[in-house]
Amino acid sequence: MTTQSEVNRTEQQEDLLKSLVAFTQDHRAVYWSGTLSSFLERVMTANPQGAARTSHQYMWDMIRWMGCEDESGNFRCKLFDQELFGVDEAIGRVVDYFKAAAAGSEVGRRLLLLLGPPSGGKSTLVILLKRGLEEYSRTEEGAIYAIQGCPVHESPLHLVPHSLRPRFRETYGVEITGEVCPHCRSRLEHDYSGDFLRMPVERIFISEAGRVGIGTYAPHDPTTADLADLVGSVDLSKVAQYGDEGDPRAWSWSGAVYAASRGMLEMIEILKVKREFLYLLLTLTQERNVKVSRFPLIYLDETILAHTNLAEFRKFLQESENEALLDRMVIIQVPYTLNYKDEARIYKKLISSAAPAFRQVHLDPHVLHAAAVFAIMTRLHEADDKELELGKKVRVYANEEVEGYAHAETERMRQRMPEEGLAGISPRFVINALSNAIIQNNARSLTTMDVLLALKDAIDNDARIDPKRKRKWIDYLVLARKDFYNRWVKEDVHKALFVSFEQEAQDLLDKYLDEVEAMLDNRQIKDPITNEERRPDERFLRAVEEKIHISDSGKQSFRQEVVRKAMGAYKRGEKFTLDSHAQLHNAVQQYLFEQRRDVLRLVSSSTRPDEEVRQKISVVEKRLVDEYGYDSHSAREALNYVTTLMAQE
Ligand SMILES: Nc1ncnc2c1ncn2[C@@H]1O[C@H](COP(=O)(O)OP(=O)(O)O)[C@@H](O)[C@H]1O
Ligand SMILES: [Mg+2]
Repeated sequence: MTTQSEVNRTEQQEDLLKSLVAFTQDHRAVYWSGTLSSFLERVMTANPQGAARTSHQYMWDMIRWMGCEDESGNFRCKLFDQELFGVDEAIGRVVDYFKAAAAGSEVGRRLLLLLGPPSGGKSTLVILLKRGLEEYSRTEEGAIYAIQGCPVHESPLHLVPHSLRPRFRETYGVEITGEVCPHCRSRLEHDYSGDFLRMPVERIFISEAGRVGIGTYAPHDPTTADLADLVGSVDLSKVAQYGDEGDPRAWSWSGAVYAASRGMLEMIEILKVKREFLYLLLTLTQERNVKVSRFPLIYLDETILAHTNLAEFRKFLQESENEALLDRMVIIQVPYTLNYKDEARIYKKLISSAAPAFRQVHLDPHVLHAAAVFAIMTRLHEADDKELELGKKVRVYANEEVEGYAHAETERMRQRMPEEGLAGISPRFVINALSNAIIQNNARSLTTMDVLLALKDAIDNDARIDPKRKRKWIDYLVLARKDFYNRWVKEDVHKALFVSFEQEAQDLLDKYLDEVEAMLDNRQIKDPITNEERRPDERFLRAVEEKIHISDSGKQSFRQEVVRKAMGAYKRGEKFTLDSHAQLHNAVQQYLFEQRRDVLRLVSSSTRPDEEVRQKISVVEKRLVDEYGYDSHSAREALNYVTTLMAQE
């Protein structure tokens, strides 16, 4: 006999299996190979546009295939969404570049250069594009074909002779550009006697590791760097076989520009390379070809994405002959984010991919935000008199409400300070400080104060920061603590203190009303338990009223007004609650807090707390742990911290 839950489980398993099958069908890359003639018949006829895409069009298709949303002019792409935070503007520009280049704009003939401060996400952006290409090439929409065995996996359409290309345009509506590479030309003659229709064609899958469609070049030592790293060299072991150094089959096609053909070439720290490298790359983007020793020009279609940091770029600009090269690049700035909430998301991402020993350390709920606030401050232009003060600016950039400030201003504020976000502390710096704090203290739990101290240490010990800046940054740590952390932690503790706030506040309100009515009517109040009669409690009434500065001479009219409102509510059949009277609400809340505050004071008092107080404190701690993301260590620290803050007030 099977129970209902077992039936459900089998159904679930079947569902899962079905969706797994569907997934693999969606993603199963169907390999295909055949002659050029069958390629034209099958693939070309089915989707001529898809088969004739340029590298820019292919990348643009990939970005859109991953999913994009246009939120009122704010373009969001899934490819970057979960990995890059707070750099939407830069991403938007990159996306625009591909869109324009895919449409045939002149920008496609310029090299794309990402420029920004270190650890600002440039490499990550490029990596996401690379992973995107690999994944896309395994889908049906992303199917891409090449001449089999071609060292640059060139388009099979290159085999179509020029004289036939106009007919092609008429038949398929696509333009063929590009020439057969020397290697395939030689094979075509030697192995197929020029019969291009018999040349083998296959579907290829983009793979960085396999050097198909993705090439990466990082300059090592510039003095030994050889152009061969980019464009290959004669393969001496094969010269004997083919009898001629000039035979393309005796060439080693190992250069990064060949690997990148049909996809993208990543040039890491491009401005560190020799100038001859740079010329070669600029020609490659502009003319789509490279010149190698004895061969005719080799046609290559690839997108070059380069990155560099600002220091390198400024050095580059100092040489006047470099200026002309700028016209041949599309430069996109990738600054640090100025939104502390986005910055904190970066830390969270970096921590979640760190080693378990790091990941499992408990951080109090404000650690990342406080560190992020500090990091943003180091990136901002220093406030002068006319400007919004630093703390407020940080909040404005995080889209928080700031008194006396209209958000419509933000854009103008940013434009006035174009250098903001190009310098200051990187996410890496913060993460390193955090991990040092963990290692040094062998910590299981870190509080915001621990981390602010760790950041101070990191600044003190960093020889690259000059003393003046060190002092300024340490001031920023203090500011992050005072303007942000103190506010956050106080709010948590207050909320945790008011565990049963609503009921107690309502009870207080009811008591206030009873006493006021008795006072106005000049009658006694009967104690509900002892039945004893007593006079209304004037001291209590004044204690509440003083919280909102009701004077002795003004108390009478205030009380009358309260009673009038309460009567009105009563007549309408409504309950008189705190929401019915804003002023009284405020008064009751403050009165309650005063009462609870005494409990807090006892936390830090030197005398041993009695059992009752201890009980009350542990309720607050538990609340901090259960609802506000603390662990018991950081909850206790937070309580102590807020108590000392209050003692200073
Ligand atoms: N805006 C950002 N969003 C998400 N992660 C970021 C961001 N900026 C930097 N990072 C992370 O910081 C680390 C360093 O970034 P990286 O891409 O190598 O920077 P760059 O190439 O600009 O020096 C990476 O792990 C990256 O994921
Ligand atoms: Mg990098």
